[in-house]
Amino acid sequence: MRTMYCGHVNTSHIDQEIYLCGWAHRRRDHGGVIFIDLRDREGLAQVVIDPDTPEAFKIAETVRSEFVLRVKCTVRRRPDGTVNKNIPTGEVEMLVSEIEILNPSLTPPFVIDDDSISENIRLENRFMDLRRDEMQNNLKVRYQITKSVRKSLDADHFLEIETPILTRSTPEGARDYLVPSRIHHGEFFALPQSPQLFKQLLMISGFDRYFQIAKCFRDEDLRADRQPEFTQIDIEASFVEEEDIKNIASKLTQTVFKDVLNVDLPAKFQEITYKDAMLKYGSDKPDLRVSLELVELTSDMKDVDFKVFSNPANSDNGRVAALRIPSGSDMSRSEIDQYTEFVKIYGAKGLAYIKVNDITKLNEEGLQSPIVKNIHEKALKAIMEKTGAQNGDLIFFGADKTKIVNEALGALRQKVGHDRKILNDQAWSILWVVDFPMFEFNEDEKRWDALHHPFTSPKDGHEEFLENDPGQCLSKAYDLVINGWEVGGGSIRIHDQKIQSKVFNALNIKQDEAQEKFGFLLDALKYGAPPHGGLAFGLDRITTLLVGSESIRDVIAFPKTQRAQCLLTSAPNQVDEKQLRELHIRVRNQNPN
Ligand code: AMO
Ligand code: AMP
Repeated sequence: MRTMYCGHVNTSHIDQEIYLCGWAHRRRDHGGVIFIDLRDREGLAQVVIDPDTPEAFKIAETVRSEFVLRVKCTVRRRPDGTVNKNIPTGEVEMLVSEIEILNPSLTPPFVIDDDSISENIRLENRFMDLRRDEMQNNLKVRYQITKSVRKSLDADHFLEIETPILTRSTPEGARDYLVPSRIHHGEFFALPQSPQLFKQLLMISGFDRYFQIAKCFRDEDLRADRQPEFTQIDIEASFVEEEDIKNIASKLTQTVFKDVLNVDLPAKFQEITYKDAMLKYGSDKPDLRVSLELVELTSDMKDVDFKVFSNPANSDNGRVAALRIPSGSDMSRSEIDQYTEFVKIYGAKGLAYIKVNDITKLNEEGLQSPIVKNIHEKALKAIMEKTGAQNGDLIFFGADKTKIVNEALGALRQKVGHDRKILNDQAWSILWVVDFPMFEFNEDEKRWDALHHPFTSPKDGHEEFLENDPGQCLSKAYDLVINGWEVGGGSIRIHDQKIQSKVFNALNIKQDEAQEKFGFLLDALKYGAPPHGGLAFGLDRITTLLVGSESIRDVIAFPKTQRAQCLLTSAPNQVDEKQLRELHIRVRNQNPN
């Protein structure tokens, strides 16, 4: 039907007669001449219809936005002064001899290139929204990434193998999506939270190097970087150690950045231990473009009068830390109030601060602050020295349980850093976070949970902690962090049945429960499991970073909302009684909506 894409026409085609197909992006009547910007996935081409071709002209007059057209036209250079430098086809225009309306369109729910439309309207009309240039580009980049991934892993002898979607619950720690079985009354499949157990089985089967671009399903609270249904670039390899997997994943990341953005990442990525990341950045996914660091003050605040500081400083799991904002003393009361509200999201009870007006006067005269009167001079001196404060700075403080201080000041560091542009000149902050703890104490349930998943191997020499001090036990897990986003994570797995049992013990998973849930893997581990490990990248997150968007919904063709609904298809939806009966299911409370 067509000779080429609208977006590909250029000066090399001048004088050629061609056919173009596409959507009427915009129509303008210019004193007897009609201009239509014809759009396809490759771009826009300006077609011109003049009254010398009365038949075409008559049809062109009826064309409205988003009509689908086919035109026969001759390419010509645009007259001087009308060249459009903003689009690749801007030096040419097409003089139309014939025009055919392949399909009209209703008036679109919104103007295609209006980017002020609310996300809900965009999602309800996703097929329209996806016509936008930005969305077309996002999905193209997503494809370029998967193409680059396949090329790179193929060159490294990885095999792409599919694993089941209808399966058993997997241990990534979120809630499962369940699928009822018709044949087995009262029994359910779970959709995989990741292919974790299957890829380990594939290693035991001897495939040696596996990858998959895999759909994963997790019923968890959604945020800008989380979807209930998302895609992993999932990798596993045998006879490897931590360095091997990090090298494979680093190389893959470098290849993708080069192929897609033509960006050269460093040959070796920076590494930081989990412990240092928490101390310095309050986060296990620090954005190192922000040049601010937390300063540890716990030991200096044990004997101050200010109970907000001394109580956590004297408690086992408390922390007092500071965040110095260079030249921050110009911050207004209302800005400080806004940041105080912000840290409350993370459970902080307040946000103490000091404005450093005259550092030679360690009292209320030199330090403008609601807390200085309750902090003795020695402690104030320690604050000034350890933060490296200078006149004109502002220092924020967090004092609470360590977890709250880290989350609150970690998020504040990121926010203030970006708000006030306290950034270094790196475009990409990329790092490995290593030496994660094996376990995290779950305060609500009063038990240890696996920080990664229960098949993660402890560090060599840390096995003894499994029984007597799980909190001390570090793991062979690693995360890849780009610009403050956890884009990938993985670990070396346990291949020794005895250590696996000890880990289950530490997690308070009884033997029969482990056998019931993961028996198929535990049994397989007894039949010659090779040492193995792997990692999974979040494809949606990487794509979001590479296109410079803020939400992974922008790089998924048909995403769900924050409330886990598809506004286009209205899923989830009620099903009819017959379907339920076949599945032996009775709904207790029908959703009133
Ligand atoms: P993990 O749970 O860390 O590890 O997931 C790996 C990566 O997947 C991405 N990700 C998500 N992306 C979008 N929406 C979500 N809800 C979501 N959850 C996770 C993140 C994350 O880094 N089986 C292990 C991997 C392994 O050990 O090999 C796993 O799933 O980018
Ligand atoms: P208050 O004694 O409650 O008036 O608090 C004095 C200052 O300490 C205020 O600026 C509060 O925002 C701040 N503050 C209160 N609780 C905390 C906390 N847990 N961590 C840091 N600052 C706090």
